[in-house]
Amino acid sequence: MDRLFFSDSPELKLSEILELTPHDRAFVIMPAGCASMLGEVIGNLSPSLLIDDREEAKNMASLERILSAMLEQGLTRRSIVINIGGGVTTDIGGLAAALYMRGIRYINIPTTLLAMVDASSGGKTAVDLQGVKNIVGAFHQPLATIITPAFLRTLPDEQLLSGYAEMVKHDLLRGAMPGFPAAGLTVESVASDIEQSVMFKQRIVSADPEEKGLRRILNLGHTAGHAFEALALQRGAPAAHGIAVAQGLVTALVLSVMAGGFPSALMQSIVAGIRSLFPIIPFGCKDYEELLGLMHSDKKNQGKGSVAFTLLAAPGKPMERVDIDDATLREALDITRDLLGI
Ligand SMILES: NC(=O)c1ccc[n+]([C@@H]2O[C@H](COP(=O)([O-])OP(=O)(O)OC[C@H]3O[C@@H](n4cnc5c(N)ncnc54)[C@H](O)[C@@H]3O)[C@@H](O)[C@H]2O)c1
Repeated sequence: MDRLFFSDSPELKLSEILELTPHDRAFVIMPAGCASMLGEVIGNLSPSLLIDDREEAKNMASLERILSAMLEQGLTRRSIVINIGGGVTTDIGGLAAALYMRGIRYINIPTTLLAMVDASSGGKTAVDLQGVKNIVGAFHQPLATIITPAFLRTLPDEQLLSGYAEMVKHDLLRGAMPGFPAAGLTVESVASDIEQSVMFKQRIVSADPEEKGLRRILNLGHTAGHAFEALALQRGAPAAHGIAVAQGLVTALVLSVMAGGFPSALMQSIVAGIRSLFPIIPFGCKDYEELLGLMHSDKKNQGKGSVAFTLLAAPGKPMERVDIDDATLREALDITRDLLGI
């Protein structure tokens, strides 16, 4: 499992780690679009390669460009890749490290909240293919992850919310009540909770690094969330990943009441908190077939007559792979719309 470091000075922490880790060169990947912004926190560390970090560019062509640059710049088995950026950068840079010479070491320095609490640790690396998200990838654990909340100061509000959805998910899974600040999220209101959120993920991943069982609980909210995300994309109004996950959490909580005995009043108060903070992805009855189709086509459900959900019997009591039939799913989508006022 990767070592997690929390530091106000990622440059200093990185040089300490590199000093203790025999290597021949460090290959730094950063997103072109926000490299100068990140530079304010990262200091003098200059990129070896700037990449396009839009989700549309998280593909085989970009991966090949990264691998080619690694070859051209003479990386060897003793080199270390440093990924500085959001989840797109850590996913694609991590996959490049997994593939180059059958696997070299890499270090993540996440710069979005979502990458700090989720994407940058746990060793899942991937690119998208033919519009299917994360379908080509590898498990390859980073050597270290350095978390510096100061990066969040320049992050757009939507991105802060997106990461917060994953923190809400971790809270529900570990049995804590998520907070929904009435005045909205700020960097200060989330920064102090990052550590316990990512440590929770680390505990789950160390028990099941390759998602053979327990790690599946981290899919809470994602089965419906991915369907909402894809629907928004099809309509030409893409939603940040976590915004869709927050709405997916609502459907998962509704199903948890219907199929898992989760207390209804508690579900309603958590949903009210989600509704107060997160924007809604609109959908109606006419979208149900599309949403159901998207959930059935999830990697985990192919060929099954039902959709497997991670649900909760109570906060801190996850149930993985609960099979839900289409009639129950339609009912849960009705209730989701009622609760969200759609
Ligand atoms: N590997 C995993 O376990 C895992 C888990 C969750 C999500 N993911 C993946 O993560 C990706 C989403 O990651 P994300 O939400 O971090 O998005 P992202 O990497 O696309 O970053 C979002 C945007 O913020 C910009 N940005 C990054 N840091 C910034 C900063 N400090 N200030 C201002 N702007 C900044 C980026 O340039 C980008 O435009 C998806 O591809 C998803 O599949 C992976």
